Parts: sequence; C-alpha cells; structure tokens
Amino acid sequence: MWWLLACHTVEKLPGDDAIATCGDPVLTPQLGYSTSDREAADADSASFGASPEPYHLRYAWSGNPSTDATILWRTDDDTLASQVQYWKEGGEVRTVAGGSFTFNTGGGRVHEVPLCDLAPATTYTYRAGGEGHWSAEYSFTTAPAAGTEVPVVIAVAGDARDNQATWAALLDQIETFAPDFLVFSGDAVDFGSNMDEWDAFLDAGVGFMESHAMIMVHGNHEFYAQNYFGLVAQPGDEKTFSLDYGPLHLAVLDDSTSSDDRATQAEWLDADLGATTQTWKVVSHHMPAYSSCTTHGSDTELQELWSPVEEAHGVQLDIVGHNHNYERSVPLRGGVEVAPGEGTVYVVAAGAGADPYDNDMANAFTAVAAVTEHFALLTIDGGQMEVVVRDLAGNEIDRFTLSP
Ligand SMILES: [Fe+2]
Repeated sequence: MWWLLACHTVEKLPGDDAIATCGDPVLTPQLGYSTSDREAADADSASFGASPEPYHLRYAWSGNPSTDATILWRTDDDTLASQVQYWKEGGEVRTVAGGSFTFNTGGGRVHEVPLCDLAPATTYTYRAGGEGHWSAEYSFTTAPAAGTEVPVVIAVAGDARDNQATWAALLDQIETFAPDFLVFSGDAVDFGSNMDEWDAFLDAGVGFMESHAMIMVHGNHEFYAQNYFGLVAQPGDEKTFSLDYGPLHLAVLDDSTSSDDRATQAEWLDADLGATTQTWKVVSHHMPAYSSCTTHGSDTELQELWSPVEEAHGVQLDIVGHNHNYERSVPLRGGVEVAPGEGTVYVVAAGAGADPYDNDMANAFTAVAAVTEHFALLTIDGGQMEVVVRDLAGNEIDRFTLSP
C-alpha cells in the first residue's frame, strides 16, 4: 500500500466537483528484487495513454474493511489518471484521487485509490479511471463493523503456482457459494517476479475481485517480489497484518522468512491476539506447523514459535498452504490432542493447482487428509463455525464445526 490513510479534501479544481483523497502518496519500504525504478506518478493527473482502459480492477482492503477500501487496477504505462467515483444507492457521487506506479518487471502501470469514511455493511457502486475513460460500474459491500455477530462466509484456497487453469476453475466453483471474501494461502504463482503468471492469476479473478476482497498470504514462491507488493493492497507491510470482519479477527503472517523474523512476528501476534475481543480468531500463513505430507511435513519451528501463541489466545483455526493436499488436524494444544474447543485446529488448504503431494497420515495429530484440488468454505453463523471442503467438482471431502 502506498498511501497513509488520513481522509481529507485537498483541492477543488475549477469547474470540477471536489476531488478528495484519502491520504498523501507516501512510499512504503521498497521490498523485493530490483526495485530501483519503481516510480510513483502524480495522484490526480488527467493524462491518458494509448490503452487507458482499466483492467484487473480490484476491491481490496488496506485499512479497516468496514470503513476503508482500496480500488486498484492496471493500465498502460502512460496513463496517469487515477480516480474512482463511488456512490451509495440514491447518494451523491464522490470522486477520489489516488496514485500510480510502474515497476521494472513489466505489467504496465498499477493504480491505487484509497477510499475512506465508508459506512459499514453498505453496498457502493463504483467506477475507476478518469473522465472520458471510466471502467464499467461494479459494486462492493463494506465489512460489518467489528463485533457485529452476523453470518460470514469466507473462502480459502492456496497454491496455484504453475497451474492457473485449475485456480480459475476452482474460483468458478467458489463463486457459486457467494463468499464474503477470499483468503489465498500463498504461492499464487511459481516465481514471484514472473508477470505472465500474475497476469494469469489475476485473469482468473476477473468477475470476482472487482467486488470481493482477496486477502493474499505471502508464500515462499512469491519470493518477496515487487510484483507481489505492487499488485496487492493490504494493511501494514502487506504480509503481516490483521483485520476484523464482523465477529471475526483474522491475523495473517509471513513464514517464508528468517527465524529471527518469525520470532518477531510471534511477539506481534501475541500482542495482536491479546488486544482483540472478537468471538472468532483465525490465523493464516503459508507453511503448516503440523502436517503429515510426505514431501515436506511439519514446520517444527512454527510449532515452537507461533502455535503456543495461537493456542494461548484461543485461536480456533490455523489455515495454511504450501503442502499440496488437504489436511485437518485434531484439536491441538502443545502438540497433544485436546477436547474440541480447547485447542487449535490446523488445516492445510493447498489445492489450487500445484502438483499434489502425498499424505501418509502417519502422525496422530492428523484427523483427515485428501490429495486432490480443493477449496474450503468457512461459515460463521449461529454461534459456530462450519468448515466445508470441496474438490474441483464440488464434491464434499470434509466437514467439521468449531466452537468459539
Ligand atoms: Fe510454498
């Protein structure tokens, strides 16, 4: 994310409606490979290149999802106009300016426009681009305010890597269940700086991501590439952050990093989970603390650093990718099975296209495993969370419930 969120109206252009911004363009720390020519452009230019039509338009969260949003899209390099118009049904049209940038692994120009002062649980219609070159109109619905005990449906998938056709087919399946948002548990692509792979990943999202946030977990195959940080808009440093959606607190961590950084994130997670009063606590990262996958199994360092924090704070579900199959653990506390509701259930959801890995269920902590493409649907309703996992054909391969 490139802008600090502080909504204010900065100017009124002669003859135009007021153009607002939600923050000043401030560069976040440069991350990834060869970032030297990542170049930001003026926020509110009205200049257009030869191909100004917005594509890969997305609704994303970079702050509080009930009051803030970021609309991002891509154009040719020469298009600098970065504006969004949005309105509630029967409400006034607001015009907001953001900014844009290019980066040196190609892919044209990325535009990001932060929106602020939105109403919770409210549907807005919007269009992006600039005068004379607006996109089609789409809509999004802001998150219910934190603490609101309303039904929530979350889709989880992970590990598309070099098989974007399967990811596209899986997302078609997911859309039929109308989730509120999606969590992608890492390894969206095989090599993070390969823009062709990101193009295919985002092509699959057309028709969904204009209206639904896709929370991205940084996987080891993202390689901290500038493409990842350039193409997503997420809170904080875009790889370790948390957010609330109605009754849910979701914390996202990056485990592709050093042991020291994992330890630092454990401290962050302890403070983050200690500060929330939300009924439901879910943690997502990429590598499984517990897994009976035969290619790469459990990450014992995560068992030592993160699992005790999650279990101490009553995290009901830890959901990851990386090991290309589906696996669910029994409820665990300190690696030992405990009664339902007294421990954390660890789920691997890594079936969005990458070559499947075998799972021999050799560990006592493994309750269920399946080697097939799949996605998970987490439904919070009526004081419980029901998790249903389906394969590419929609067949159910697991179903379980969790208590707060
Ligand atoms: Fe991975």
